[in-house]
Amino acid sequence: MRLPDGFLEELRARTPLPAIIGRRVKLSRSGRNWKGCCPFHNEKSPSFYVYEDGYHCFGCGAHGDAVSFVMQSQGLQFREAVETLASEAGLEVPKASPEAAVVEQRRLGLQQMMEVVASLYQHRLAAPEGTRAREYLLGRGLRPETIEGFGLGWAGESRGALLSALSKHDITAAQLVEAGLMRESEDGRAPYDLFFNRVMFPIRDRQGRIVSFGGRIMGDGQPKYVNGPETALFSKRRNLYALDRARLAARNGQPVVVAEGYMDVIALHQAGFTGAVAPLGTALTEEQLGELWRISPMPVLCFDGDAAGQRAALRAAEIALPSLTPDRSLKLARLPVGEDPDSLVKKQGPAAFQAVLDAAQPISMLLYDLLAAGVGTTPEQRAGLRTRLEAAAARIEDKSLGGEIKREMMDRFFADRPQKARPTAPRAPMGHAGGRGKFAPMPPPVPITRTAPAPQTAADEKMRTMVAILLNHPHLIHQVEEAFAMLELPESLAMLRDAMLQWSSSADPLDSAALMNHLHRSGLNQTALQALSAVPVPLPHCAASSAMPAEAESGWWHFFGLMNPRRLDEEVIAAQRAFTETGASADLQRLVALRKAQNRLNAGRVDWDDGPDDDED
Ligand code: UTP
Ligand code: MN
Repeated sequence: MRLPDGFLEELRARTPLPAIIGRRVKLSRSGRNWKGCCPFHNEKSPSFYVYEDGYHCFGCGAHGDAVSFVMQSQGLQFREAVETLASEAGLEVPKASPEAAVVEQRRLGLQQMMEVVASLYQHRLAAPEGTRAREYLLGRGLRPETIEGFGLGWAGESRGALLSALSKHDITAAQLVEAGLMRESEDGRAPYDLFFNRVMFPIRDRQGRIVSFGGRIMGDGQPKYVNGPETALFSKRRNLYALDRARLAARNGQPVVVAEGYMDVIALHQAGFTGAVAPLGTALTEEQLGELWRISPMPVLCFDGDAAGQRAALRAAEIALPSLTPDRSLKLARLPVGEDPDSLVKKQGPAAFQAVLDAAQPISMLLYDLLAAGVGTTPEQRAGLRTRLEAAAARIEDKSLGGEIKREMMDRFFADRPQKARPTAPRAPMGHAGGRGKFAPMPPPVPITRTAPAPQTAADEKMRTMVAILLNHPHLIHQVEEAFAMLELPESLAMLRDAMLQWSSSADPLDSAALMNHLHRSGLNQTALQALSAVPVPLPHCAASSAMPAEAESGWWHFFGLMNPRRLDEEVIAAQRAFTETGASADLQRLVALRKAQNRLNAGRVDWDDGPDDDED
């Protein structure tokens, strides 16, 4: 007889596989997983990999979970292996009873029905009645293979369509109610469909079995999404959208990323972030965190850059606190204000989301910021903050980690003296922002010096290019302002620079023709034209007025980095910090441009003339 699925899930969740296997096989860390010599065949070099929830041997192909490991290694039957593991985990194996068999049978029935329903919805999407829905999905930027891969569908236009379409499969209204697809009406009339006139998203459990659906209205109706209710198959607290896919991706080293909604997850997968998941219309729960930690020691939670996002981050941090260990932690990533992952990758491409991930901060570093946000400087307020910091650290059950985190927060608490006014959302000063001890102190900026004052050295040519980029793209002046202001330029360029900076502080919009007019009136026309001239050498493409803004911006940092790579690295760090603090799009844009320049320099590429930018790096 089969055991109820819920029981096996629980057993697997409570059984740390590396520990079980570690008793028989000497395991060593391999990245986030473990490896050792395979116990099922003879080998000298390790090709046996152990994950949180399974093992795989690349030598002989042995493969399984805790139960199958115990079966194989101890020669036990399924039931015996389950009993062995259950007694170690302190669980009682449910007795085989006719009632349990019936429950299990029903579950299987429901499960199969869900698959039938999902393919019905898929058919409808492909049929003429699904035209509008297909156009909607394509219009949101999904590719046909993405729509197919996620099994998206169309519910159909009329109520009652589900039951009539399924009656040939001998499916009853009562079964559809049980599966959460129809709802009992309160006034005793026939049950009615939960989903109609909606684009359908099948929800799969961690093993990839369909357990529920979400449905989105096309356009602006209310409610925007309807989610299936709790059923024998589906628990909202435990499931995450796309967990089945993220689990496989995590094994291949993809970061596990928690976004907010269905469309975010799908857009992220399409953009290559195949470890993306989302909770199902609720805030992240403890159970979901547990599921995430089974596939990754450090999932990244994405939050909106606004105040509500901060509150959600704090809530998630508080749920996670008690269970944090060095192997079960979290990172928090902040999105630019007004963007979700879907809109961000659509507007700015995968590199922009990668930059958001790269700027993510471990929870141990962010806890202080989250708790201290908006706290004033009176003795009462500071004392209150200190109590909250201590209480937060005390909730961490891993005492050694809790002690470390507490020490770090207290260091910052005392470093963060009231007389140093707390900057609220600084306008991202660069390179040497008034850090509040969150990061290691930055080395003082190294002035950029010119070795020889001789005219037309290579350095002069780079500086001329940097000025030319800004003459053609003056909207970038704010983005590079401080670095630009600190450049040690030859005299004529320095005069030009000062005039440009002064103009940019009041001009609006920052437009090239207006800038050239201003320089003309200031008697700097000749100097400006020289900076833009194709003599002695033509300017690179990124300095041309036809260059895309992103290309011009990363080009500017590229030349900056050519002159002083260390300063470029510092700018990258400062930009990450600025973006983490403000979540502003301009800060993200700068971070992306800087990283692109850094990557190109690291790759030894100086080929700014090989045409427009590819967005690959
Ligand atoms: P959002 O309102 O942020 O929507 O809800 P979204 O994910 O960006 O969706 P699009 O881009 O407008 O299509 C985030 C998540 O909150 C849940 C859903 O899970 C959604 O994906 N939600 C939202 C609901 O459950 N019901 C609603 O009415 C709205
Ligand atoms: Mn969205």
